[in-house]
Amino acid sequence: MKTNILGLPVKETEEIANDLNVLLSSFQVYYQNLRGIHWNIRGKRFFDLHVKFEELYNDAQLKIDQIAERILTIGGKPLHTFQDYIENNKLKVGKNVSNDEDAVNLVVTSLSELLPLERNLLTKSGDISDEGTNSMMSDFIQEQEKTIWMMKAWLEEKI
Ligand SMILES: [Fe+2]
Repeated sequence: MKTNILGLPVKETEEIANDLNVLLSSFQVYYQNLRGIHWNIRGKRFFDLHVKFEELYNDAQLKIDQIAERILTIGGKPLHTFQDYIENNKLKVGKNVSNDEDAVNLVVTSLSELLPLERNLLTKSGDISDEGTNSMMSDFIQEQEKTIWMMKAWLEEKI
């Protein structure tokens, strides 16, 4: 088995870099979904939600950078054009969402669509002992599951 300088198998690592690019593209759409609801949110809960969505998009932006730099670390090339992001995105695009419950539901939907991409990466990175990617995915999953719980509590819905 051919390995790279990190000691990771070349072929499987390339596959992980490709999957990370799909996650990166999907995260960019999640980020833009959040910008959209941060800007367009209306109603009596405006002040709370406007700030909450800003907190979430700032966090998403940090994760986007982490994903891109992980791709580089394992020898891949992070996608960076809008065109590539649209082609590789797996998330529903939210457009002109201004109702508060619809906005919170968009966050829940986006996060629940990111989770399977991350679990797939968790499995693949686990299989080749790529601990760097594995622990990153594990942190993302744990945080996103918690955010979904909080959003569901706000919606007064079951998980
Ligand atoms: Fe703002």
